[in-house]
Amino acid sequence: MKIDFANLQYQYQLYKEEIDAAMQAVLDKSNYIMGNEVRELEDALQEFTGAKHAITCASGTEALILAMMALDIKPGDEIITTPFTFIATAETIAFLGAKPVFVDIDEKTYNIDPSKIEVKITEKTKAIIPVSLYGQPADMDAIQSIADKHNLKVIIDGAQSFGSIYKGKTDSNLGDISTTSFFPAKPLGCFGDGGAVFTNSDELAEKMKILRVHGQNKRYHHKYIGVGGRMDTLQCAVVNVKLKHYTKDLLLRQEVAQKYTQALKNKELVTPFQNPDITSAWAQYSVQVKNRDELQAKLKEKGIPTAVHYPMPLHLQECFEHLGYSKGDFPIAERVSEEIMSLPMNSYVRDNEIEYIATQL
Ligand SMILES: Cc1ncc(COP(=O)(O)O)c(C=O)c1O
Repeated sequence: MKIDFANLQYQYQLYKEEIDAAMQAVLDKSNYIMGNEVRELEDALQEFTGAKHAITCASGTEALILAMMALDIKPGDEIITTPFTFIATAETIAFLGAKPVFVDIDEKTYNIDPSKIEVKITEKTKAIIPVSLYGQPADMDAIQSIADKHNLKVIIDGAQSFGSIYKGKTDSNLGDISTTSFFPAKPLGCFGDGGAVFTNSDELAEKMKILRVHGQNKRYHHKYIGVGGRMDTLQCAVVNVKLKHYTKDLLLRQEVAQKYTQALKNKELVTPFQNPDITSAWAQYSVQVKNRDELQAKLKEKGIPTAVHYPMPLHLQECFEHLGYSKGDFPIAERVSEEIMSLPMNSYVRDNEIEYIATQL
């Protein structure tokens, strides 16, 4: 058996007619930048998430930059976040001249541990960026109450979690600003780079819209120093089609996850923790194993692709050497990064594939 990790081609074939027609319509109009499909997608994203404003942008990375720029994050500010995430979460903080301040993760959820946040707050702290890792939002009530107490902003890095639900709300509808990514392998992916920011604040929404186009509030008049951060019309046309099918695709992902958990329940590994208050978007189905490298090699021989999200926590990355962290600072993130392994995950993993993977494991 040869299993596909993300099954992107399969999904394209499934919606090919609609996607091709939507892309052709853009080509016929040649409205490549800020065409009507952009606004259509933003309206549909607002409706889907319940957030008052959805603003598309060039990527999940750009979304984080727009969010922090809108909140006036400046050189010297400190931003608290998790070391167990994709580089973009902390890289964007550093890119704006601010300082990422890491806090270890919870060993069950792999998300930032709120009980360890407060000791890291200083007078320079401006915001907390929780990441909804693998699709599962962090303990947002606890994080929001710490933020309220210390007058901090909350930006949710929801690159992996579009459509996830925390206590009845999507994670795009929490915090001051929430971001997402439409990178192809994300639960809702386009055919290149794309992303979005979400907020319930009219003021922040207006500012992010202006920042997205070089800080321009009137043609060739620039209110702020901004970025070239638009999502192009073709990519919006693709997501417009996929979003129509997303509720169903998300349910299928959830079913795949439940089937994995059932099939793996007697194996010597740790299956994902599921908080009853949360419905994950299941960007990844990641298990903890003891002999990961050997296991990955053996699974590969059997036609089962695996991935590691992420093999090195961010406080140990070369680019953050100047922050002065060392091995042992965040023991849970360090241990999990050695043991975590993601299994093939998408809406279309078949029952016999899950069975085969479980048997091989
Ligand atoms: C947690 C996290 N943050 C940010 C990003 C950046 O998103 P993008 O690749 O769209 O720039 C990603 C995606 O890879 C991610 O997983």
